[in-house]
Parts: sequence; structure tokens; C-alpha cells
Amino acid sequence: MGLKALCLGLLCVLFVSHFYTPMPDNIEESWKIMALDAIAKTCTFTAMCFENMRIMRYEEFISMIFRLDYTQPLSDEYITVTDTTFVDIPVRLYLPKRKSETRRRAVIYFHGGGFCFGSSKQRAFDFLNRWTANTLDAVVVGVDYRLAPRHHFPAQFEDGLAAVKFFLLEKILTKYGVDPTRICLSGDSSGGNLATAVTQQVQNDAEIKHKIKMQVLLYPGLQITDSYLPSHRENEHGIVLTRDVAIKLVSLYFTKDEALPWAMRRNQHMPLESRHLFKFVNWSILLPEKYRKDYVYTEPILGGLSYSLPGLTDSRALPLLANDSQLQNLPLTYILTCQHDLLRDDGLMYVTRLRNVGVQVVHEHIEDGIHGALSFMTSPFYLRLGLRIRDTYISWLDKNL
Ligand SMILES: *[C@@H]1O[C@H](CO)[C@@H](O)[C@H](O)[C@H]1NC(C)=O
Ligand SMILES: *[C@@H]1O[C@H](CO)[C@@H](O)[C@H](O)[C@H]1NC(C)=O
Repeated sequence: MGLKALCLGLLCVLFVSHFYTPMPDNIEESWKIMALDAIAKTCTFTAMCFENMRIMRYEEFISMIFRLDYTQPLSDEYITVTDTTFVDIPVRLYLPKRKSETRRRAVIYFHGGGFCFGSSKQRAFDFLNRWTANTLDAVVVGVDYRLAPRHHFPAQFEDGLAAVKFFLLEKILTKYGVDPTRICLSGDSSGGNLATAVTQQVQNDAEIKHKIKMQVLLYPGLQITDSYLPSHRENEHGIVLTRDVAIKLVSLYFTKDEALPWAMRRNQHMPLESRHLFKFVNWSILLPEKYRKDYVYTEPILGGLSYSLPGLTDSRALPLLANDSQLQNLPLTYILTCQHDLLRDDGLMYVTRLRNVGVQVVHEHIEDGIHGALSFMTSPFYLRLGLRIRDTYISWLDKNL
């Protein structure tokens, strides 16, 4: 009892001390975002303490919190919702009940969560996917790819690709009444990474008959080659997602070895023979001037990691590393970036790279946006920013898909 009270007391102190992260002044509902940020940082801190005390690993603690938020597949008046599998990959499927004269549009959605956490079953993503199915009268699939650190790259990517390839089969499209010319891949954060990588793969694979009509990338994470971009510097202790947490999670995508995050924090993790890749992430060329500001470009240092991790140079893991010929065949792309987001510059650089090779890109920049806003649009936060992002993206999708 005494110990519990002590722990609770400590958590309260922590919570309050995290409440004072300075907020940018243009932010809507700043008190909610302050509370959110304090909760996120308190959870991170507690998880790190538990890890240091060898009670449980950081990601085990955070996963427990995420799992509290999972929902059952509940059908309603308009949509039949089922948990099923594509090949052997768990998916949550949303099928409109109304009879349709024509074949429907479809959206395949990859949830965020740093490759380590989350699910299509999470309240916010279940809400988003149901909303999409309803508003667009579309078939929607939420993909539950395997998670790190139990599974490392390429498991997440391979699950995403396998689920999409299965859905694109003639007999499956017919089964669900989907129009093969009106399919979109969407994702947020690490899910945006998977949507990007899978789209690159599908569009460049001559053996896949039906292609993707468009991709939607919501504050995606697309690279880690350079861990010292202007948005990393501005949001080192950023709202919800800090540089340390981002580095920890993306490291776990590749390995549990602590040497990787250590080297990443110092921007020394890329292998010796990888300098030719820097041009694909050279922010001093690829970022618009408005975001470059007066920051000075310094090249990442090579070879700080004593062994080689092939994933670090693989565009299936870090799709900003794809070369121009791999980007040329990409479909219409919608990219949403948030100003107060560590991952902002990944999205901005992909906009430039795609436009440079003639891919049609629609870019939405949310000036008061924070990372992960969609995840907070449902109970208990009902964050208006999240709803605004949902509405912006869905109305664009409705007009274009
Ligand atoms: C990055 O761009 C700058 C120009 O802004 C250039 O001087 C530098 O050589 C480039 N570095 C790499 C590795 O591409
Ligand atoms: C681009 O990358 C692909 C896949 O790695 C490779 O096959 C191709 O030769 C590369 N093209 C150029 C122009 O470097």
C-alpha cells in the first residue's frame, strides 16, 4: 500500500513537471495538447524506469497501454466489420451494407505506432476506417502487420506487401465488389512508411496486374539516414514524439542492440559504403527554404556502428532512399505534414523528390499540426486537430479516388 502510494505520488510529480513543455502559440486546444504531451512523456519516463530496473522492457509497458484501447469488430447499420486474415495476415475489414450498382472504391490503411505498437483495432483507427468506409461508400482494410521488436524488418513490410498483393487478386476484388482502378494505400507515421514502401514495390513489379491509383501519406516517417534534420533539431523534445523516442522505436525496427540508437543519436550509424545515399536525403537541397532557415548542413558521419545492418540502406525500410527511376512510376500522391513534428522534413523531402521526377503530388501542410494527431481524435481526448486532419484528407479522397 505504502509503495503504491509512493509510486502514485511520484507519477503525479512527473506528470505535473511534464506539463510545462512550452507550446507553440498557434496551437488549437493547447491545454489538451499539453495534457496529452504530459501523459506521453510520463508513460515514456515510467517505461524507461521499468526497463532500467529490469522490471519489464520499455516496449512491453507501452504495448500494455496501447492494448487497453483495442476495440471489438462491431458492425453497425451501414457497415459490416469483421476481423479476418489475408493469406495469414490479420486484417480488419469494413464492407458497406448498401447494395451498389457499380464496383466500389477501396482504401487499405496502415496504422502508425513506430513499428512497435498499435493495431487497426485501436479506437482511433477503427473510427477512422469505419468513417472512411461510410463517407466514401468504400471497402476499407486495416492491416495488422507484425510488430517490433519481436519481429524486425522486413516482417512489417512483407506483411503489408503480402496483404496488398492478396487484395489485388482478381478473385478477391470480385469477391468484395472492388473497382481495380480505384484503390488507395494510406497510412500515418510508421504506417505511412509502410504505405510508401509497399506502393513503390507494387508499382515497380511487372507481375502485379492491378496497380494502386493513389497513395496517402499522413505525417510519414521515411528515412533515418540523417538523424539531424531541421525538424529533428526543432522538435528534439517535441510534442508527443521526441527525438529519443523516435530513435528508440526506429532502432527496434531493425535490432534490439543498444549500439544502434546510440550511434543514431550521434548521426553516425550509416555504414561506410553508404555515402552515395546521402543525396536522396540531403535536406540542404530538398527542403524548401522556409524550413531550411539558417540551419547549417553537416553530413552524417559514416561507420559509427561496428557491424552492418542491411536494412539501413534498404529502400523497403527507408523509402526516401529509393532512386529516381524507382520513383518515376508512382501514382498520384497526397502528403500531409505537420509543422510541430519531428518527422515533418521526411514528408517535405519526399514531396520534392516526387515532384522532381514528375509524379503528381498534393501537399497539405498543417501549420498548427502535431505528430500523431489522428490517434487522439477519439475518447478521451476528442482532439479537434485530429478531426480536422481526418476531414481534410477524407474530402480530398472522396473527390479524387
Ligand atoms: C548536400 O548539399 C550541399 C549543397 O547544399 C552540398 O554542398 C553537399 O555536397 C551535399 N552533400 C551530399 C552528401 O550530397
Ligand atoms: C535504382 O534501384 C534499383 C533497385 O535497387 C536498381 O535496380 C536500379 O539499377 C537503380 N537505378 C539507377 C538508375 O541507379
